[in-house]
Amino acid sequence: MMQPDLFADERRTLPLGPDAALLGGFATESAEALISHIQHITASSPFRHMETRSGKRMSVAMSNCGSLGWVSDRSGYRYDALDPLTGNPWPHMPRLFRELAEHAARSIGFHNFTPEACLINQYRPGARLSLHQDMDEQDRTAPIVSVSLGLPATFLWGGHHRACRPKRYSLIHGDVVVWGGASRMIFHGIDVLKEGKHPLTEDVRFNLTFRKVR
Ligand code: SIN
Ligand code: FE2
Repeated sequence: MMQPDLFADERRTLPLGPDAALLGGFATESAEALISHIQHITASSPFRHMETRSGKRMSVAMSNCGSLGWVSDRSGYRYDALDPLTGNPWPHMPRLFRELAEHAARSIGFHNFTPEACLINQYRPGARLSLHQDMDEQDRTAPIVSVSLGLPATFLWGGHHRACRPKRYSLIHGDVVVWGGASRMIFHGIDVLKEGKHPLTEDVRFNLTFRKVR
């Protein structure tokens, strides 16, 4: 049986800095529906390992939904209305995705957030995302909303300079992180994913990152 005090602890809200918080368990109840949407979306815009400008294959596999999608190739990073793999527009962003992201943003005071893009990251054990700033968006007043599903990961939360040693936070299935305002340009990343089995996703961690681009 679920212990009520444990449950309350799992749903903690942890401030990460000004205008930034980890909302523990914020997406737990929607998780199964989110995962089935991911499966549906990636049936038409499949996960792929993009290349960086320098030609390095990213260890995280990616897809998108929404009116814009984040893409990387030898010409650099950008947002594109079309999936370069299929030539078609990215799949529609499910209403559940949009409402969850808006609700999470609102809960720490970002009342006008409407995401245009949802980057879908797929991590398998060994995959990582090195420290970076989200800087391909023109609208820097809007926060970033990030949803974790499946295997746990270690979130690296740094400072405004790449050299700042990051703090480490565990992100588990259902956790949501929101950062904006004074924390919008913080360096962040994901440490190498450990082996594991999650009942809903087996050896996979999914992450949904919602952005307002323009
Ligand atoms: C990202 O920074 O785009 C993704 C972070 C995550 O996977 O939690
Ligand atoms: Fe990021």
